[in-house]
Amino acid sequence: ETVTSSRKRDHLVICAEKPIEAGDAGFSDVRLVHNALPECDMDTIDTRARFLGATLGSPLFIAAMTGGHPDTLEVNRRLARAAERFNLGMGVGSQRAALEKPELEGSFTIVREEAPHAFLCANLGIIQLRDHGIEWAERAVEMIDAQAIAIHVNSLQEAIQPEGDHNAEGSLEALRSLCEEFSRPVIVKETGSGIAAGTARAIWGAGASAIDIGGYGGTSWAKIECLRANDSDLADLGEAFLSWGIPTVVSLCEVRKTGGPIIATGGLRSGIDIAKAVALGADLGGMALPLLKPAMESDDALFAAVEAIHRELAVAMFLTGSRTVGSLAHARTYITGLTRQMIETSD
Ligand code: FNR
Repeated sequence: ETVTSSRKRDHLVICAEKPIEAGDAGFSDVRLVHNALPECDMDTIDTRARFLGATLGSPLFIAAMTGGHPDTLEVNRRLARAAERFNLGMGVGSQRAALEKPELEGSFTIVREEAPHAFLCANLGIIQLRDHGIEWAERAVEMIDAQAIAIHVNSLQEAIQPEGDHNAEGSLEALRSLCEEFSRPVIVKETGSGIAAGTARAIWGAGASAIDIGGYGGTSWAKIECLRANDSDLADLGEAFLSWGIPTVVSLCEVRKTGGPIIATGGLRSGIDIAKAVALGADLGGMALPLLKPAMESDDALFAAVEAIHRELAVAMFLTGSRTVGSLAHARTYITGLTRQMIETSD
């Protein structure tokens, strides 16, 4: 068992058993404007969403989580079944472990086996991309026959993880060469600290096709690494950074001004949050932790969770008079509190 692989299992166990969320993504400061005369039929609302040329069943995206350890196979199998059943986009977790050790591919390849028609995103860290180049990106995509690849950035986690990579130099250049040469769309994805407007411009400049906000206010890697740390100095360091990051709503409002397709992930906890994200300019709303827990239980628990999210989304669409996701994107919102203050001070 490699270090990368056993870390994957540690993360799942911690996420299932411990409180790993921190802060506020900002959705409680956002209200969709109620339409008292909606003039549409709730039962015929069309939740389909377009993303990078694909038509998906809804804007709910199954965010990158796992794979790379035999114990993660069952979770990926269930997530993939949900992706296939509801025609949702899905990202797999970082494929590094399987690229280092091909025997571990099974926990990833199961996803394409169970979801032959789904829009799948491969996943690789920017540091692995920089160090191994386009060849690893190609192998990651081939492993699951993915439609796109997400390159994740996670400087906060690298900084406080005992085995973390502290040198991020050359990341942007690596991204630029990938975007130039690669045959599939490249999505740049944060994992809980958000993306600012200036960073988004650099990402578009490098040629990326989409940005996944990965904002602050949901799953916290500072908290996970804190809980995993055996060393008390590292635990203290994680603790000190529990409130670090750009809340998802604030990051979304910054990135949408820079243009380009957006997945809003980080602290979305209901179909209403997905509706709010779409109204604020996201093309899709990603969820990790809220799907992980039912996925560790059973197919039925996961399908029921997705159906509940879809019901909330449909009611929110009805109450804003939005027959389609395209019209939801024009729904008005009120933004109050700290979220509003942060948006007003952003560049
Ligand atoms: C993640 N996330 C993640 N992201 C990524 O790009 N590659 C990865 O390997 C992982 N691994 C991973 C494992 C687990 C157990 C969780 C819960 C999450 C991050 C994930 O895709 C998402 O950006 C954040 O979790 C924020 O969303 P939620 O959890 O607040 O809905």
